[in-house]
Amino acid sequence: ATERTLILVKPDGVRRGLAGEILRRVEAKGYRLVAVDLRTAGSDLLQEHYAEHAGKGFFAPLVDFMASGPVLAVVAEGERVIEGFRALAGTTDPTGAAPGTIRGDLGRDWGSAVQQNLVHGSDSPESAAREIALWFPTL
Ligand code: CMP
Repeated sequence: ATERTLILVKPDGVRRGLAGEILRRVEAKGYRLVAVDLRTAGSDLLQEHYAEHAGKGFFAPLVDFMASGPVLAVVAEGERVIEGFRALAGTTDPTGAAPGTIRGDLGRDWGSAVQQNLVHGSDSPESAAREIALWFPTL
């Protein structure tokens, strides 16, 4: 079915000037951009966004990192886009991510407390609905 997903180009991606390259890959795959917004997220939004990781060791560093600069928040649409974007992104750990993927081609480990892996993508229809409502409440 046609789905929507929330994509975030994380602060490392924006800082490195990769936002355009990442959006290019999403569009080249054939997904449609529904909403795009560059903003620096506050810790309240980020703590809600990452609620499922609350209590993990990387939670506070993750929220700090995500608040460290602007992120590009994107809603993309298409047939099976949730799974499709996760395939484009590659595995969480950018060092081992397959070449051809965003993380595999453009990312690596920088030795920080958190995996700076360039992008986030919703992992299920339920997460997508929750995350889109959080980042784009008027959509
Ligand atoms: P994301 O898909 O945004 O979801 C949670 C994020 O936490 C993940 O990408 C990484 O940036 C980060 N993350 C996940 N696992 C770890 C880990 N073991 N150590 C550090 N950071 C992690």
